[in-house]
Amino acid sequence: MPTVDIHTHIYPPTFVKLLRSRTTVPYIRTSPDEPHSSRLIILPGEDDPSTPSTARGRPIGPEYYDIAQKIAFMDTHRIDKSVISLANPWLDFLPSEEAGEAARRINDDVERLCAQHEGRLYAFGTLPLSAPVETVVTEIERLVQLKHMRGVIMGTSGLGKGLDDPALDPIYAALEKHNQLIFLHPHYGLPASVYGPRANDYGHVLPLALGFPLETTIAVTRMLLSGVWDRFRKLNVLLAHSGGTLPFLAGRIESCIKHDGHLKREGRIEGRRDVWDVLRTNIYLDAVIYSDVGLKAAIDASGPDRLMFGTDHPFFPPLEEDVKEWHSVTANYGAIAQAFKDDQAAAQDVLGNNAMRILNLR
Ligand code: URA
Ligand code: ZN
Repeated sequence: MPTVDIHTHIYPPTFVKLLRSRTTVPYIRTSPDEPHSSRLIILPGEDDPSTPSTARGRPIGPEYYDIAQKIAFMDTHRIDKSVISLANPWLDFLPSEEAGEAARRINDDVERLCAQHEGRLYAFGTLPLSAPVETVVTEIERLVQLKHMRGVIMGTSGLGKGLDDPALDPIYAALEKHNQLIFLHPHYGLPASVYGPRANDYGHVLPLALGFPLETTIAVTRMLLSGVWDRFRKLNVLLAHSGGTLPFLAGRIESCIKHDGHLKREGRIEGRRDVWDVLRTNIYLDAVIYSDVGLKAAIDASGPDRLMFGTDHPFFPPLEEDVKEWHSVTANYGAIAQAFKDDQAAAQDVLGNNAMRILNLR
């Protein structure tokens, strides 16, 4: 009975080199005063001039880029297989003419890492979304040929206008045709103004705990409203963080649609696929929600056969030194144990069997 981690990130060495060469977000900075400690600055606003440069972002060590550390983490936490993905902000920031080549290089790097650990590692590929659509589609078709790839990780910006942009249709068509799952992951959060003038007093809590999940929820709802799943009925999307807040808000979303005069006048209320149908047919959810309360909403919305264990490694490491097992991981194990305390078989499905089946792992 395998345990499979489907939400676990890596910055392969070529990506780290790229980040080290930059001085604007996203970048890695090593202070001349502290040559042995580097910081990873990736989120919008993390290089706010009011934050001293030595306190910006988060410390970055080899757990972010050394695959041996990923395997050691898996061993410590009894994880048999991991489906690794490039962490945010992926290639979203690259100039159009550089993105295609960067995606090929990074996807080949990640494929090689998986091949070095046959049977333990699979991956979601990365798309050059700032490049022309044809370049993106070509990379999707190339990824299909790579033995360890099981879909693609994507942020919410799409080609720059979000995931309800009709210009994405050739990309959705290619992903649907090749049965490639989209792992939809947040990065941009909400506009800084909603966090208020004291935001810096609260560390990363508001953007990570609330900005991320709301970003995901809004992105998926825009896909739904624009009819993506009416046009691409077999397009499958794995939502990070148990769907953000989508399971909790699905009823409200449907109610707002049914009461919207504009949609009614345009004849867009009847005949569409509703959010409940999409949740049970096209959406998969990870179990990275740290509490059985949120997990139960995810189970109710999509079903225990569509939920998959994840860790978000290497993010959320313990702040204490010399802690072997990470709190963030034991919280997710605990939530599954609690939510399925009367159904061990379903717990095992979420821990690994679902991922084996859905992602065709061996
Ligand atoms: N913070 C990030 O920037 N990305 C993650 O995946 C998790 C936390
Ligand atoms: Zn993540």
